[in-house]
Amino acid sequence: MQHNKVLILDFGSQYTQLIARRVRELNIYCEIHPFNKIPNNVEEYKAVVLSGSPFSVRGENALHPDLSKIRGKKPLLAVCYGAQYLAHFSGGEVAPSNTREYGRANLSFVKSDEAFFENINKGSQVWMSHSDTIKNLPTNGVLLASTNDVQNAAYKIEGEDTYAIQFHPEVYHSTDGKQLLENFLVHIAKVEQDWTPQSFVEETVEDLQTKLGNDRVVLGLSGGVDSSVAAMLLHKAIGENLYCIFVNNGLLRKNEFTDVLEQYKGMGLNVKGVDASTRFLDALAGLSDPEEKRKAIGRVFIEVFDDEAHEISDVKWLAQGTIYPDVIESVSATGGPSATIKSHHNVGGLPDFMKLRIVEPLKALFKDEVRRVGASMDMDATLLGRHPFPGPGLAIRILGDITAEKVRILQEVDAVFINGLKEWNLYDKVWQAGAILLPVNSVGVMGDERTYEKCVALRAVESTDGMTADWVNLPYEFLQKTSNDIINKVKGVNRVVYDISSKPPATIEWE
Ligand code: XMP
Repeated sequence: MQHNKVLILDFGSQYTQLIARRVRELNIYCEIHPFNKIPNNVEEYKAVVLSGSPFSVRGENALHPDLSKIRGKKPLLAVCYGAQYLAHFSGGEVAPSNTREYGRANLSFVKSDEAFFENINKGSQVWMSHSDTIKNLPTNGVLLASTNDVQNAAYKIEGEDTYAIQFHPEVYHSTDGKQLLENFLVHIAKVEQDWTPQSFVEETVEDLQTKLGNDRVVLGLSGGVDSSVAAMLLHKAIGENLYCIFVNNGLLRKNEFTDVLEQYKGMGLNVKGVDASTRFLDALAGLSDPEEKRKAIGRVFIEVFDDEAHEISDVKWLAQGTIYPDVIESVSATGGPSATIKSHHNVGGLPDFMKLRIVEPLKALFKDEVRRVGASMDMDATLLGRHPFPGPGLAIRILGDITAEKVRILQEVDAVFINGLKEWNLYDKVWQAGAILLPVNSVGVMGDERTYEKCVALRAVESTDGMTADWVNLPYEFLQKTSNDIINKVKGVNRVVYDISSKPPATIEWE
């Protein structure tokens, strides 16, 4: 793809991915690379951003990028550690801060720079997070802005398109942060805003056609957003040569297998639904340890998928819905600048289908971009807005061992809860929701009868990435109605509780 592109050099900051997301929101394509692995084709990038870091430029472990092909040769924006690095090693000085410099601060401009500060008001709120401070600017440094506690909050280098800021423009708390990135990238670096969902679809479809030709491709659909959008892109590119497999592991939501299968067919996909519920339930019989349950489900899935892939003659490729956060090489914040990559597949001892060549059409996209790409292909909003759902499905929401009857009860409870969220317009306000079947019976009374039945927990959380989460303050009236509906409609349940734990210290799923 011949896009204008921006290089983000990562020094291990927890915010590096946020920089990339803000840049992409400006319709500018960017890539994150570790500070010590600058791409050979660095000339092709229109601008470079240096991220923050947990390291100190004064420490023995200071990270040293080789900026010889960048500094003074292309527009450069240095953030936090980047700003300190440019100061400390180019004639300035960085020292420990006297006061803690975390949280809100307000900018006051020292020197006007129309392009850099366009549409940014005096007093604009910025977010600080650093324990070192820039005492003296580097050679040819010109001070642009200060805050109450930080004198050298923004500077530029005379005669270069090099800008440096101590604060973090990428976090939402920096109110004009996105504007500042736009000022630097669009006005100063003259990067064109040519990365849109539509252009992504057009180019990806063309690339896939060139790469795949008349080859056959197999893809496992999960009902989730990523695999569905990946399938649509491939379908646009190669039509019937894309063979989709949608496996019912018997642990999906109520009616999900048939509903989603119909939806996939309606989208024109060449999809085969495989009902392997019994095979999965048999493999799970007697298992109550969560990790053993996960392993059994993973194993059976591979067996089923392998059997099905063998039914397709002459298949050459395996498509996956891998997205960008899964492939970014990250700089370790603790063990020095070592790199780790998450990988979806290993070599050796693999089932046959995994020996196919891999095609991953979404691997340059963040989750929110996947949704935008799906919307630009007119995919159904209910499919794109679906809550995340774990691969092992209800198996990790039935605590302890699993039986067909427990699956039935939980499917019913979950359906009352999720349909209720939709009816009350709460579904889209919640990141993820579901019900958990607890391994306890409790005493109740229905009519004049004593009951001794199952207890279920409801869980609804707010989150952006599942890494941290907080419980949602659902209206009492909604909880009251849902609890009543569950107990009245689902035979075998006589008590409902609501989970009010955040992550951390709890997790989203109970197992
Ligand atoms: P936890 O429970 O770790 O979950 O807070 C974070 C997110 O990951 C999902 N999750 C899984 N997804 N296989 C998956 O595909 C799993 O084994 C699994 N366990 C948890 C969970 O639903 C939440 O979105």
